[in-house]
Amino acid sequence: MALLYEKRDRIAYITINRPRALNAIDPETLKELSEALIDFREDNNAWVAIITGSDRRAFCVGADIKEMLPVLSDIRNEWWRVPPTILRGLELWKPIIAAVNGLALGGGLELVLACDIRIAAENASFGVPEVTLGIMPGWGGTQRLVRAVPAAIAAEMLFFGQRIDAQEAYRIGLVNKVVPQADLMATAEEWARRLCEIPPLAVRAVKEAMIKGAEMNLEDGLRLEAKLMDYLVASEDHKEARSAFLEKRKPNIRGK
Ligand code: HXC
Repeated sequence: MALLYEKRDRIAYITINRPRALNAIDPETLKELSEALIDFREDNNAWVAIITGSDRRAFCVGADIKEMLPVLSDIRNEWWRVPPTILRGLELWKPIIAAVNGLALGGGLELVLACDIRIAAENASFGVPEVTLGIMPGWGGTQRLVRAVPAAIAAEMLFFGQRIDAQEAYRIGLVNKVVPQADLMATAEEWARRLCEIPPLAVRAVKEAMIKGAEMNLEDGLRLEAKLMDYLVASEDHKEARSAFLEKRKPNIRGK
């Protein structure tokens, strides 16, 4: 299997599993990634996903240069032929954590950028080397990197394609935390479990408001926020959380 997918206790684990090619994404991996993400989105019992790579060396080194890039050049601008993922084409407001266990290059970094929380192992490194292949980061890198880090840093990484290490990634705000490789999954799981204690409809509404709002003017963003707030105040979890606060007890969160 090019991708491992399992669910335990409200957490979905997505592991890219092509260690021979340093977890480069070939058409099969992309299809399986799409299917896993859609299953995660549709499953009411899955609240948070963690995406990682199966090998100590690599999270993902991007599109498979031999198997994937030729397919992408055949498809050209008919992008709807590419399976929908968080890179492009799939709306998914549940929170996703990237556990970056090694190299995150090209499409690998673009996948990290499409996640909300990013935990890096000390040996992780990050880069968008596509320009050196005469193409560009076409899985969202030119759009998401510049929204994630200051413009001059994004331009430097996108123009030169050089790699940065985990500490530099932390310094520029690309990742939330850097931990020893041995602690990576435990840390990602701890963040996932903490997220599972928060009413999930609220977390999803916040993600949607943040991401959609970033593309809107302030007035429209405030309108979107108000609409999502209307939906949340009517939710069962809100009523339960409010009662629990007043009764000084732990809320029984159910995702409704
Ligand atoms: C296919 C890849 C690969 C890739 C590495 N491999 N990267 N196979 N696609 N992107 C394979 C190698 O061919 C080799 O297989 C094995 O993985 C180990 O790689 P080595 O090069 O031997 O290892 P090393 O010397 O340690 O160098 C590691 C590396 C280098 C720095 C990651 O492999 C590298 O620069 N890879 C290319 C990374 C890249 O350019 N990514 C962007 C891809 S384009 P064999 O069988 O020979 O042992 C992209 C576009 C996305 O992501 C957007 C599309 C729209």
